[in-house]
Amino acid sequence: MKIAVLPGDGIGTEIVAEAIRVLDTLDLSFEMESALVGGAAYEAHGHPLPEATLKLAKEADAVLFGAVGDWKYDRLERSLRPEQAILGLRKNLGLFANFRPAICYEQLVGASSLKPELIAGLDILIIRELTGDIYFGQPRGRRIAVDGHFPGAEEAFDTMRYSRPEVERIAHVAFQAARKRSKRVTSVDKANVLETFQFWKDIVTEVGKEYPDVELDHMYVDNAAMQLVKAPKKFDVVVTGNMFGDILSDEAAMLTGSIGMLPSASLNAGNQGLYEPSHGSAPDIAGKGVANPLATILSAAMMLRFSLNQPDAADRIESAVKHVLAQGLRTADIWSAGTTKVGTREMGDAVVAAITKKAITG
Ligand code: IPM
Ligand code: MG
Repeated sequence: MKIAVLPGDGIGTEIVAEAIRVLDTLDLSFEMESALVGGAAYEAHGHPLPEATLKLAKEADAVLFGAVGDWKYDRLERSLRPEQAILGLRKNLGLFANFRPAICYEQLVGASSLKPELIAGLDILIIRELTGDIYFGQPRGRRIAVDGHFPGAEEAFDTMRYSRPEVERIAHVAFQAARKRSKRVTSVDKANVLETFQFWKDIVTEVGKEYPDVELDHMYVDNAAMQLVKAPKKFDVVVTGNMFGDILSDEAAMLTGSIGMLPSASLNAGNQGLYEPSHGSAPDIAGKGVANPLATILSAAMMLRFSLNQPDAADRIESAVKHVLAQGLRTADIWSAGTTKVGTREMGDAVVAAITKKAITG
């Protein structure tokens, strides 16, 4: 089992370190190799995704990724910005299926900005198509307009596009995931306005006929954004395109009150995957030892389950996380009165201890 470890920038290095300690606690043998990515790679090698990092990722069974980005790189030309590393990995590894679960942990119900009764027991899975849509569609750029409202003016444009196979394969992923859950899929589109998403809706409907046991419904993205805060528990699996999925998955994450808790997986057709917390590099708290490592630790659990075929080890990590929450340990982002505030390292220690079933002190 070969794991490429790409901690990246900001809190990335601190949280990935804890996930690695947790992995080391399991009695499994991994071959782990680290490389620079994002701003850290730009500083050292002049590129956010150096050849050697990409090669390491391609050759691994799984990539454990921290986070990239810092405001100080905002002035760089787009191709050199840290975000290009994650887009480049998605593209080069063909990681088209992004799983973003939004689970509200029992102990964290009070952390959400929504009323507890709306989110208690929330467990939804957003499946976001990750290598198509307006993110990667060509052509894109800037030019002088020849038509439109202001011919002769400067304009910028991107291209929203999906091919049939791209929609088919993500639809299959969603229906198969739903079969392992409550057998419901909501496909989110904008078919009332966009040709691309009428096409999306038609194809998801066709693919759905192969899964008569799974209930499929369709929702426009604006309504989905509203329903997510109105009655989030009505959703089970949500499948959508790259851009809508970007937006809705942040919204869904915040329902749980704790983006610091949410892992994600991005898989290709061969089950090779990139695993990362759903949150970013948080440069404001980097190096302070206060970041929540649980999303990364839970991403490592997803990695064990999806790419490394070690479901038991994944279960052990996930129950250890529930155990530390039940003990009342909280990093600052999820802290509330009556619980114990801990730092990144202490949280990692507690998970390690829960896995090894050692008594926890302090
Ligand atoms: C995400 C992020 C990325 C995206 C950025 C960093 C390129 O927001 O993973 O959701 O837009 O996909
Ligand atoms: Mg995003």
